[in-house]
Amino acid sequence: MINGNHKNKGSNKFISISSPSITQKEIDFVKDAVESGWVSSLGKYIKIFEDKFAEFCGTKYALATSNGTAALHLAVALLGIKEGDEVIIPDLTFIATANAVSYTGARPVCADIEAETWCIDPKSIRKKITERTKAIIPVHLYGHPADMDGIMNLAKEYKLYVIEDASEAHGARYKNRMVGSIGDLGVFSFYGNKIITTGEGGMITTNNPGFYEKAAFLRDHAMSKDKRYWHPEIGFNYRLTNLQAALGVAQLERIAELINKKRRIFKWYEQSLKGLNGIKLNPQKDWAENVYWMICLLLEESISGKRESLMQKLKQNGIDSRPFFYPISLMPMYKSEEINRIAYSVSRRGLNLPSGVELTRDEVRYIAHAIYEQIMP
Ligand SMILES: Cc1ncc(COP(=O)(O)O)c(C=O)c1O
Repeated sequence: MINGNHKNKGSNKFISISSPSITQKEIDFVKDAVESGWVSSLGKYIKIFEDKFAEFCGTKYALATSNGTAALHLAVALLGIKEGDEVIIPDLTFIATANAVSYTGARPVCADIEAETWCIDPKSIRKKITERTKAIIPVHLYGHPADMDGIMNLAKEYKLYVIEDASEAHGARYKNRMVGSIGDLGVFSFYGNKIITTGEGGMITTNNPGFYEKAAFLRDHAMSKDKRYWHPEIGFNYRLTNLQAALGVAQLERIAELINKKRRIFKWYEQSLKGLNGIKLNPQKDWAENVYWMICLLLEESISGKRESLMQKLKQNGIDSRPFFYPISLMPMYKSEEINRIAYSVSRRGLNLPSGVELTRDEVRYIAHAIYEQIMP
């Protein structure tokens, strides 16, 4: 059934969910940044990182931030969204998408997801739009793009802004267009487990010069350009450091290699789990190019009760895994009467498997073997 050298069995090696890929290039660039003395948020690497990231996404501008949550918050804030406003987000996402809306005083409203992409469903968005709605934040979940045409059409019809949360999908494409370049603004995270990392870090992308200027202004304490230490409004310190940017520049130079590795790992899982009934791996619509940030395993309803025991079994075999995110609308601060059925169902049945680019084919076989053992009756 499954071949493979299960070299982890009995050994102490733990297969983590994801770990960054650091080469001599990253070390050299960071060393250069440290030695330059520019250790805070001035220094050449920040501008290089922003310019190269904009080029990578195909946007006119990119602005680096201290993390992805800060980038999301800046994006919502610069649009003037405030208390009394609503912003529609998918029910299945990381908590930061909702929290960034709340920081402005606005209310996140959760829409359901599509069963086929696990991303926000335009049909559900339409039902959630009210006169208070100001924006939509689609999330390209686990590396798969959301249905951007459906979302952009709704945004046009109701005059809403679109902020793409591409924190998990650097380099993913929707109909051949880079995620983060389609909405009014794009947002990325460079946390340690992301496609590329700066340790902590984030980025805003946009083609709109006004949005870019406003984001840069708010990122740096809203200080006047012409008058030092004059602050006409409340801003933030959401700057990235030169040291982090140096790491980012090195990672960005390797992004094609890193994405190719993710795709190869997905293929290995696909091959190793072929023939196992009752499971599905990450989707990929024909209009999408998934970057497989996380390898996802979705259990069919009939065996969904096995998720906990499967995660336990993996752990016993030295294999890390994670459950899918809980629906946002289940959290105490975002509790809602309405149930987004697909988000609830997918959330309950999904788990993330080790997805780091250093994973070997033998390790994938070993993981698949443990899954077979637990799921086959
Ligand atoms: C969908 C999504 N949005 C936002 C964030 C927040 O990014 P950060 O952790 O860099 O603040 C993350 C990741 O952590 C994420 O997965």
